[in-house]
Amino acid sequence: MDKAIKVWLMRQAGRYLPEYQKLRKKEKNFMKLCLNPELACNISLQPIRRFNFDFIILFSDILVIPHALGQDVQFKEQVGPVLGELEHKKIKVDLTKNMEKLAAVFETIKLIKKQERDKDLIGFCGGPFTVLNYMIEKGTSKTHKKIMNHIKNQPDTSAQLIDIITEVSIEYLKKQIDSGVDFIKVFDSWAGLLDGDDYHKFVTEPNKKIAQEIKKYSPETKQIFFPRGSNENFLTFIKEVKPDVIALDEKFPEGVFSYAKKHNIILQGNLSPRLLVEGGTKLREGIKNILNIFQGNKHIFNLSHGVLPQTPIENVETVVKEIKNYNEA
Ligand code: CP3
Repeated sequence: MDKAIKVWLMRQAGRYLPEYQKLRKKEKNFMKLCLNPELACNISLQPIRRFNFDFIILFSDILVIPHALGQDVQFKEQVGPVLGELEHKKIKVDLTKNMEKLAAVFETIKLIKKQERDKDLIGFCGGPFTVLNYMIEKGTSKTHKKIMNHIKNQPDTSAQLIDIITEVSIEYLKKQIDSGVDFIKVFDSWAGLLDGDDYHKFVTEPNKKIAQEIKKYSPETKQIFFPRGSNENFLTFIKEVKPDVIALDEKFPEGVFSYAKKHNIILQGNLSPRLLVEGGTKLREGIKNILNIFQGNKHIFNLSHGVLPQTPIENVETVVKEIKNYNEA
């Protein structure tokens, strides 16, 4: 059964799970939840206990990096992340100190591996541009005006900040590997805001640096990259960054299929989280359609973005069941 398709879902640990909600009520401070090894281990394993997914993803958040760099990060109910003032001069790389602030994450990884030795564990960080986006916007933004102005009007400071985030992220991933993760994933959720030279400078290059440094440090650790919204740039990204697995959203060029096949790259994706909310025949058809489209490639079944909080549990069960049926057919 080594050809069996594996399945896990982005944001598989989260608000759609009643058992998550229960723990969340006990710890109202989301950052504290991320930095509490016992709770974070427990939450990472919740979707595994319920659905027996093939991969565990570490429960944490990409915004622990601004926290490690000294920027205040809070998560407000109904709002999302709210970041404090970004004082450029105070943002300094001191890898030992930065990593001390994330020590709890490494403990979480060790706890998870102790409990679930046989399942692959995915550690992660945000793509440098995506993390910078939140640092500059100081939270979620619809227009992304501040970040776009920042890279346009202050290209040098932007480049410096990207370098800092990249360096700290590499160290963070190395420490995650030391603690026991089997895969790393880089979530560049806002890569699609950029194109042309900016895409090259702020997306391709920093992701490539992470990929190369991690490959040098730990060649056996598998690398997943998710430059969401890259559209036509997906192919250039893959050619430059050379990931083991490329996570796809819904739009990417046809050429990805043949390139991935030729270079032994696994494709991950790409069911719409909205179909997962909808369920029923449309969901089952959507799953079959994806299995068909990807059947000539190595494929890990996943979503095109994270599970939405309003997702019914039974629809997630349908996904796991359909993949199991497909593998047994
Ligand atoms: O299950 C998993 O996937 C592992 C844990 C995980 C979380 N966030 C937990 C979380 C992972 C891998 C992330 C990544 C993340 N965080 C990304 C990249 C992926 C993506 O979704 O594009 C981004 C952009 C963030 C930043 C972030 N975290 C935002 C904008 C928000 C608020 C909006 C939202 O989607 O909830 C969060 C909060 C967050 N991160 C929650 C969870 C479970 C919900 C927090 C709550 O309980 O209120």
